[in-house]
Amino acid sequence: MAYQITNKPQLVLWPSLLTLLFLSGALEAAAGTGTSTSSVSSISSSATDDAAAATGRRSLAAASQSVFRLDRYGACGDGSHDDTQALARAWKAACASPRPAVLLVPGGKRYLLKLVSLSGPCKSSVMVTLKGTLVASPDRSDWSDEDRRHWIVFRQVDRLTVNGGGTVDGNGETWWKNSCKINKALPCKEAPTALSFHYCTSLRVQDLKIVNSQQIHMSIEDCTGVQLTGLSITAPGTSPNTDGIHITHSNDVQVTNCKIKTGDDCLSIESGTNNLHVSQVVCGPGHGISIGSLGDDNSRAEVSGITIDSVQLYGTTNGARIKTYQGGSGYAKDITFQNMVMYNVANPIIIDQNYCDKATPCEAQESAVEVSNVVFKNIKGTTVTKDAIKLNCSMHVPCHGITAEH
Ligand SMILES: *[C@@H]1O[C@H](CO)[C@@H](O)[C@H](O)[C@H]1NC(C)=O
Repeated sequence: MAYQITNKPQLVLWPSLLTLLFLSGALEAAAGTGTSTSSVSSISSSATDDAAAATGRRSLAAASQSVFRLDRYGACGDGSHDDTQALARAWKAACASPRPAVLLVPGGKRYLLKLVSLSGPCKSSVMVTLKGTLVASPDRSDWSDEDRRHWIVFRQVDRLTVNGGGTVDGNGETWWKNSCKINKALPCKEAPTALSFHYCTSLRVQDLKIVNSQQIHMSIEDCTGVQLTGLSITAPGTSPNTDGIHITHSNDVQVTNCKIKTGDDCLSIESGTNNLHVSQVVCGPGHGISIGSLGDDNSRAEVSGITIDSVQLYGTTNGARIKTYQGGSGYAKDITFQNMVMYNVANPIIIDQNYCDKATPCEAQESAVEVSNVVFKNIKGTTVTKDAIKLNCSMHVPCHGITAEH
C-alpha cells in the first residue's frame, strides 16, 4: 500500500506539531520586525520627534527611518469616524519619504475605513506597522458597483512590509447575510477582499490578524518575491467565500507559520502561480488547500513548482486538491504535497479534471489543463468519507506522473 490515509482515528502527531508551531510563532514575534535598522518604539519615544512629526514628516539624524504616525494625519481611531482620508494622507507622506519609512498605526484604537488604495512606486522601502485595528465600514453602500471587490489595496510597491501584530477586521457579517450563497433569493454579487497586494515586489506580510473578511481575506496578485508569515486568519466556518489566502499570477512566494480558519479555501492557488512554498500552516474549518479551479471558460492556466509541506487540516472538506474545468489549456505541474496531517477531512486527496461549479452543467470538452508530476508524500490522518483518494482525470488529457508514497 503506497498511501497512509486510514479511516481510524490517528492523533499521535498532533500535540508535538502544535507545540512546534506555537513555539516558532513566539520566536518570530520576539525577533522583531525584520529588515528595519531601528525599532519603531525607540524612535517614537522622543519628544522632539513628535514635534517634527506634527509638520507632516519627520526624519531623524540618529536613525535611518522616518516614522509617520497615522494619528498625525487626522485619524480619529474611535471606530466610527471615517479615517480613510487620514490613512491615504499618511501613506502618501510615507511613500514620498526618501528614507525608509514606517507608517505606524497606533495600538488600542480602531480606525474605520472604506475602500482605500495605497499605491507606489515609493521613494524608499515602506513598513506599515499595524498595532491597532483597521475595521471596514459596515455599510455596504460605501462600495460602488464599480469596485465591490476591494477594501484595502496595496499596489505597485517595492520592499513593502506590513507587520505589527494588529488586526484587519473586514466586519463581514452584513456582506455574508446578503450573499447569494446564504440567501438564495438574492443575486450573486461580489464582495470585497480585505487585504489585496497587486504588483508588489519584495513583499513581507507578517505577524497580523485578519478577521471576518467580507469575502477573500488576503489576495496576492501579480507579485514577485513574497513572504507571508505569522498570520492568523479567522472567520466563521459558515461565512461564504471567505478564502484565507488567494495567490495568482505571482512568483517566488513563501507562506509559513499561519493559522487559517474560514468558510472557504484555506489557500487557493490560482493560475500564474510559480515557485510557491507553503509550510507550517494549520487549516480548518474551511475547504482545505486548493490548486484551482483552473481552465474556467476555456482559459489557459499555468501553475508550477508548488510545495505544500507540514500542513495540518482540521475538519476541512478537502485536504490536498487540484481542480480544473474541461475546455481549458496549459498545465499544473511539479506539485508536492508532503508531511500533511488531516483530521476528519472529507476528501483528503483529490484531483478533479472534470470540475464544474456552474449553475448549468458543464459540457464535455476535449481540451484540458494538463496535470502532471504531482507527489503526495507522507500524508496521514482520518477521513469522514469512504474514499481517501479521488482521481477524476480527463479522458482526453489524462493526468500523469501522479505518485503517492510514504
Ligand atoms: C468525474 O466527474 C464527472 C463530472 O463531475 C462525474 O460525472 C463523474 O461521475 C466523475 N467520475 C468519478 C469516477 O467520480
